[in-house]
Amino acid sequence: MKVLVLGGTRFIGLAAVRALVAAGHEVICFHRGQTAAELPDGVIEVLGDRARLGEHRDELAALGPDAALDMIAMTVADSRPVAEVLATLVPRVAVASSCDVYRSFGVLHGKPEDGEPFVEPAQEDGPLRVSRFPYRGLEGKLPPEKQAFLRDYDKLLVEAAYREVERLEVATLRLPMVYGPGDPQARTASYLRRQLLGRDVLLAESLAGWRGCRGYVDDAGAALALVATHPDATGGTFAVAEPSAQTELEWVRAIGAACGWQGEVVVVPDEELPEELRAGFDARQDLTLVSPRIRALGFAEGLPRAEAIARTVAWQREALGDPNPEEAERLTLEQAVLSKRG
Ligand SMILES: NC(=O)c1ccc[n+]([C@@H]2O[C@H](COP(=O)([O-])OP(=O)(O)OC[C@H]3O[C@@H](n4cnc5c(N)ncnc54)[C@H](OP(=O)(O)O)[C@@H]3O)[C@@H](O)[C@H]2O)c1
Repeated sequence: MKVLVLGGTRFIGLAAVRALVAAGHEVICFHRGQTAAELPDGVIEVLGDRARLGEHRDELAALGPDAALDMIAMTVADSRPVAEVLATLVPRVAVASSCDVYRSFGVLHGKPEDGEPFVEPAQEDGPLRVSRFPYRGLEGKLPPEKQAFLRDYDKLLVEAAYREVERLEVATLRLPMVYGPGDPQARTASYLRRQLLGRDVLLAESLAGWRGCRGYVDDAGAALALVATHPDATGGTFAVAEPSAQTELEWVRAIGAACGWQGEVVVVPDEELPEELRAGFDARQDLTLVSPRIRALGFAEGLPRAEAIARTVAWQREALGDPNPEEAERLTLEQAVLSKRG
């Protein structure tokens, strides 16, 4: 097939492009040209802003795509008009979505509409968030350049906006917390920094036992490629995550094992910690995800988890840099607690 990918030159999108090419598909990447990537041979780049996708319609139509993959649909405003244009170009589209559509995500961020903590793992069709705009109210914790944009971010509304468009079969893939080389969110960086300094790692007790769904970037890419092209994926709702979600304690130890860390994880009751060192969310609610539907299409992880984490850590240690002021302050606070406990 020939797949038009919106985005595709950064982290997960690039992994999806590589997976598509490896599976024998042709790829057209539509992006602004601000993020350079080593794309596989044969990938066609069309440069432009998705906000003006319509202006590129004829150029894209001439390339004859059979399907599309939207990697960067974040708000209704940036999805609906794009979906309308795609409906004139291709019969089917896959949309990169997130595990934050599930009710568990609202619960862990204390959204009253989503109710109390519950235990069942989310299924592809598991209970969805009742609350909307999951990052509203959390803007203060986000970097300034992301605050305005994330105010209107909601993948639930994005999925719905896409599905309202006629003449387009829409499949969605809800991704877990994705880690890997090139991760712009640097998900291993904070623990790795402590471990490379030879420090013990302090964890609030509630956080130590919390389970979060994760996935390696190449697996996320492979799953997206399947959802975009598999005949049985058309119009479906999918999720993907590692088969068992690690606790935060296991995640810290796995990062430590990958960098040769000899330290300890020091688990401290939440009430003995200053506010800044507590979980920061309701860690009674796990964020787990099971993904039988994509596995039925033939998806399986490409690497053992320890190897996926080792590759991520090898990249992250080179890309670590200095801690930002907030992180530096946290390191000092942690050290004070650890020294007091002897
Ligand atoms: N990371 C996670 O843990 C996680 C978890 C759940 C879901 N997700 C989802 O995964 C997706 C992110 O994947 P990614 O960052 O790896 O995406 P990506 O496709 O690899 O990178 C972003 C792409 O979008 C292009 N782009 C940005 N703004 C554009 C615009 N206005 N017009 C045209 N192109 C534009 C960038 O290229 P240019 O800069 O050249 O334009 C780049 O190609 C998102 O949908 C996110 O919600 C991620």
